[in-house]
Amino acid sequence: MGGDRLESLGRLAGGVAHDFNNLLGVILNYATLLGHQQLPGQARADVAEIQAAAGRAAELTGQLLAFARRDPTQPERVDLNESVHSVGELFGRTVGAGLDVVVDLSPTQPVVVVDRHQLDQVLLNLATNAADALGGRGRLTISTRTDPTGTPATVVLEVADTGPGMDPEVAARAFEPFFTTKPRGQGTGLGLAAVYGIVQRAGGEVTIDSTPGSGTTVSIRLPLVDQLPDAPAAPRDPAGPAGQGQLILVVEDDSALRAATQRVLEAAGYRVLRAAGGAEALSLISSAGEPVAAVLTDVAMSPMGGGELAGEIRRLAPGVPVVMTTGYSPGGAPAGHLVVPKSAGEGELLRAIRAALGDP
Ligand SMILES: Nc1ncnc2c1ncn2[C@@H]1O[C@H](COP(=O)(O)OP(=O)(O)OP(=O)(O)O)[C@@H](O)[C@H]1O
Ligand SMILES: [Mg+2]
Repeated sequence: MGGDRLESLGRLAGGVAHDFNNLLGVILNYATLLGHQQLPGQARADVAEIQAAAGRAAELTGQLLAFARRDPTQPERVDLNESVHSVGELFGRTVGAGLDVVVDLSPTQPVVVVDRHQLDQVLLNLATNAADALGGRGRLTISTRTDPTGTPATVVLEVADTGPGMDPEVAARAFEPFFTTKPRGQGTGLGLAAVYGIVQRAGGEVTIDSTPGSGTTVSIRLPLVDQLPDAPAAPRDPAGPAGQGQLILVVEDDSALRAATQRVLEAAGYRVLRAAGGAEALSLISSAGEPVAAVLTDVAMSPMGGGELAGEIRRLAPGVPVVMTTGYSPGGAPAGHLVVPKSAGEGELLRAIRAALGDP
C-alpha cells in the first residue's frame, strides 16, 4: 500500500480518534470518580469493568492517534538500547517458556530523539506480533546496530521472529490501519499502523522483510544523535497527590470534559473555576477575587488556543503556572509547558497539577 493512501487514511482516522478520545476522557474520569465511592459489591465490579473497557478503548485510540501522528509527543534523547533491554526483559518474563527471547545490543550507546512512551509502544507492538506469530514456540530476537558511516548516522533496530512469515499480499498491507489476519477479538490491525506513524514522526523508516516459512524481520532505521540521553523520569506515585484547596482554573471548550475534569480536581481536594474559552478564562482570572493557583487549559480551542492564552496569562498574572491538556497536537503543544494527554487518566493529570504548583 502506497504512502499516499496511508497519509489520507491517517487524516481520516486522526479526526475520528480525536473526538473519540475526548469522549473516553469523560467516561474514564466519571468511572474513576464512581470507583472512589463506597459501592456495594456488584456495583464495584461493574464500575471496574467499565474502567477496564474504557482503558482498552483508550489504548486503541492511542494506536490510531499514533498512526495519524496526532497524539501528543514529547521527544527527548533516549538510549535505544536501554528501552530495548527493558522491553526484552518484560517479554522474557511474560511469554511462555517455549519462547526463546534474545536481545542483541550494539556495543556503542545509540541515542535517538523520540518520545519514550511511543518507543516502548513500537517495541511492544512488534514483540507482540512476533510472539503471536510464534504461537509459543521459537525465537524472538530484538537487536540494535549502529551505522555510523551514513549521513546522518543511523541505528537499525530489528525485531525478528522464526514464525511462519507473511504472504506478499499480507506484507503489502500490514501497515494499513485495521488490516489484520487475526480472528475477530484477537487483533485490531492497529499495531503496525501505530509503528508506522511513530517511526515516520521520528524521522525514520520502517520495512518488513518476510518470506512464508522463514520468519519475519521488521527493521527500523532512526537517525542517531551524538549526545547523551536525557535522564529518565523518576518513577512516580501512581495514586496521585491530593490538593489543599488551591484554586485551579479549568479552560476547556468541550463542556462534558470540562465538567468531568472539575469533578476529578474537586475530588482530589482542589477548588475549581471553569471557563469555556480563553476570553472567559482571562476575565475570571481578573474577577476571581483571589489569585488562581494554576490554569489547566486545552491546547486546541478557537478563537484563542491554549498557547495564546498562556501568553496572555503571563502578561496578566505572571507566575501563574499553565498546564496544557491535549487530545492531539497537529503542531505539538507550545514549548515550556507541562502537557497532559486528555486520555491520560486521573493520576497523570493530578501529578502534572502538583508539579505545576511546585508541591513535592
Ligand atoms: N511477525 C509477524 N509474523 C507474521 N505476520 C505478521 C507479523 N507481524 C504482523 N503480521 C501480520 O500483519 C498483520 C497486521 O499486524 P498489526 O500488528 O498491525 O495488527 P494485529 O497484530 O493483527 O492486531 P493488533 O496489533 O492491533 O492487535 C497481522 O494481522 C499479521 O497478519
Ligand atoms: Mg499487532
